[in-house]
Amino acid sequence: MASALCLRLSSTFAGGLSARCLLNSRVQRTQFLHMGRTAFGAHDAAFEAAKERLNTLKEEPDNNVKLQIYALFKQATKGPCNTPKPGAFDFVGRAKWQAWSGLGDISQDEAQKQYIDIINGLAGEESPAETEQAGEEASSYKEIKVTKENKVCSILLNRPAKKNAITWLMYNEIVQALDDASKDDSVTVAVITGAGDYYCSGNDLGNFMNIDPKDMPKMARDGKELLRRFVTAFIDFPKPLIGAVNGPAVGVSVTVLGLFDAVYATDKATFHTPFTELGQSAEGCSSYVFPKLMGNTKANEMLLFNKKLTAHEACERGLVTEVLPHDSFQKEVQTRVEYVAQLPPQSVREGKKLVRDQEREDLHKANEKECEVLEGRWLSEECVRAIMSFFTKKARL
Ligand code: COA
Repeated sequence: MASALCLRLSSTFAGGLSARCLLNSRVQRTQFLHMGRTAFGAHDAAFEAAKERLNTLKEEPDNNVKLQIYALFKQATKGPCNTPKPGAFDFVGRAKWQAWSGLGDISQDEAQKQYIDIINGLAGEESPAETEQAGEEASSYKEIKVTKENKVCSILLNRPAKKNAITWLMYNEIVQALDDASKDDSVTVAVITGAGDYYCSGNDLGNFMNIDPKDMPKMARDGKELLRRFVTAFIDFPKPLIGAVNGPAVGVSVTVLGLFDAVYATDKATFHTPFTELGQSAEGCSSYVFPKLMGNTKANEMLLFNKKLTAHEACERGLVTEVLPHDSFQKEVQTRVEYVAQLPPQSVREGKKLVRDQEREDLHKANEKECEVLEGRWLSEECVRAIMSFFTKKARL
């Protein structure tokens, strides 16, 4: 039964994808390149250079990347999206509108920066030597952005058009970024935050799409192993890890917060773990950490009965350290991070190790067990049906 459902799921999604075939031609690309010649912000020269560079790419970026480029361009030159949502049958217009409005209220300056990074990343893939010559830092990350400054490693979940849903690639990139930050002596603290209006919408449900039914068990096995490695990277991260929850958080992005050393949330953030609605089960060590933090009945309310918490509720339950006003969120978080960054790093690491060692073994056990259960869940009819329902509802919109 699960196999049959899976086939139907794939064909529905394929239809959705073809509707999203946009900005396909070089002509369209050039059109949006030349829209709004005037750019605002602190990176004007680099922004102009990135626009020219986009025109010289040999390979067409895929549609998702093109959408992201389009959205960032609009945000950088016009500011937040305030045009009406296009009608249901204007698929291209709707996709573009969603990508642009998905950036929320990020500043024009930040949009310019992200635009420049994407184009330079694409150009760097085609010609790494050229990028280095231009004196730009070549980044190997595609779906996150990692910056290191003043002892702070910032990891930005960077798929704003998809509410920063975590693809298989993004899981791997986060693991790699944490590993790199843990080994880099210039880094004393790491911060994770999200681009756009969401912190993160959890596991990308597309990870389960377009899989041949005969390959489902392998997908579930590989997914289990990747999730195990992902959560392990959080359990064993040796330096202070701070979550800057800039908007709503869903699924695994909520559960792993229990493994952070401090979590700051804007008052617009929400915390939702709709596992049973999706036929799935808890991960990120939440089956162990959440009852300890908030007691069994409150943990069950989240993990079994899908209650979405406000930032203040999450703070009362010990999942969030402090709730900060949305308007001054970045600044307030920065002040707290800078304070941690200037503390004697070895002392902080030893302190963290003392606390973590109390329960490290239990956390690893919980992680193993949760991943095993999830492997089975991903193959269950309940889960396949729930994911199919998510994408068919979207296709009908
Ligand atoms: N997996 C795959 N795609 C996701 C996603 C996810 N977890 N979260 C968001 N997206 C995609 C949407 O499909 C949409 O894509 P489209 O533009 O190609 O249609 C895009 O991101 C924007 O999301 P949208 O649903 O239009 O925004 P919204 O503000 O109406 O709703 C959410 C945002 C997060 C509430 C909604 O997308 C959602 O429920 N996502 C699923 C969350 C989830 O269940 N995660 C797993 C938990 S275990």
